Amino acid sequence: MFKSSKKPYQTVILGIESSCDDTSAAIIADGVKLANVTATQEVHKKYGGVVPELASRAHQQHIVPVVHSALQEAGIGVEAIDAISFTNGPGLLGSLLVGSSFAKGLSLALNKPLIEVNHMHGHILAHFIQEVGEAQGVPQFPFLCLTVSGGHTQLVKVKDHLSFGLLGQTKDDAAGEAFDKIAKIMDLPYPGGPVLDKLAQKGNPKAFQFPKSNVKGLDFSFSGLKTAVLYFLKKQLAEDPNFIENNKADLAASVQYTIVQTLMKKAELALKSDQFKGFAVSGGVSANSGLREAISQLGRKRKIPTYIPPFEYCTDNAAMIAITGYYHYLDGNFSSGNSTPNARMKLTL
Ligand code: KG4
Ligand code: ZN
Repeated sequence: MFKSSKKPYQTVILGIESSCDDTSAAIIADGVKLANVTATQEVHKKYGGVVPELASRAHQQHIVPVVHSALQEAGIGVEAIDAISFTNGPGLLGSLLVGSSFAKGLSLALNKPLIEVNHMHGHILAHFIQEVGEAQGVPQFPFLCLTVSGGHTQLVKVKDHLSFGLLGQTKDDAAGEAFDKIAKIMDLPYPGGPVLDKLAQKGNPKAFQFPKSNVKGLDFSFSGLKTAVLYFLKKQLAEDPNFIENNKADLAASVQYTIVQTLMKKAELALKSDQFKGFAVSGGVSANSGLREAISQLGRKRKIPTYIPPFEYCTDNAAMIAITGYYHYLDGNFSSGNSTPNARMKLTL
């Protein structure tokens, strides 16, 4: 599309994300986001959680229109793309297969290179996405990243765009999973995280005391909290069938407070254990208002700059996959196209 002398961008990356229930496509040109289009799948709401087979089918329906919209929004044709990056794991295998197959097909058709991206790597590099016309402050290396999503809870030492050290992670449920499962126990709609967050804003975080896990070192555990809430509610409901209804906001605020305090305790321990130039949070749970406030507070206490993503880049999106693809592109990390998605891919680089 562009004559070489007139090419407005050096490197244009199409990113594709389909690891769970969001189908997303984005265009990143020289690190700047030109488009980020996401189709969310409403079909899972009535089941109270993501149904993998339905997710794959919905991805198949959404992927072509979503990529088309991203190109339109960016104002470019497919010929302008220099490489296609896609999520190769971790995630739901059937969902990953839709995005990876589409990316491979397009790569063959356009004769453009393919780049595999680890979804959790994408969440971390979301902090490097630049917006058109306004330079964003980015974390300096090394920084500590607390990555909290529906499937992961990790403390990562980010040494470079492509190099990490995993300091700690959850031994059972992830923080987002804890929000979702507790919301389900309270008969609230899926995904429970944003619903509890909204309710919590009207509640008293000290109304109920739930146990905070006591795992050694920088690891986490959230399954005990879920069980504690379950038994507590069973007991209360036996005495008052309207207990949840009458205490919704206080319950939400107390659960959120417990999760956020647990995350902050380990993050502070990590900050004390090493030298970091910044403290960042990423992943779906970073949209949580209580957590965002607590990150800023801890940053002020430890006198370290904090980085909290805009809401658009907290939950799953392809812009984070495209920016990660961009850094892989600069480093020459291309895919042979022969690998299959890995549902349990680890963050090792
Ligand atoms: O990163 P993400 O979109 O998908 C995964 O990679 O898992 O994270 C989804 C998770 C869900 O568990 C959802 O409940 C949680 O992020 N989440 C929130 C909020 N918004 C999304 N949790 C708490 N408060 C929120 N505002
Ligand atoms: Zn995610």
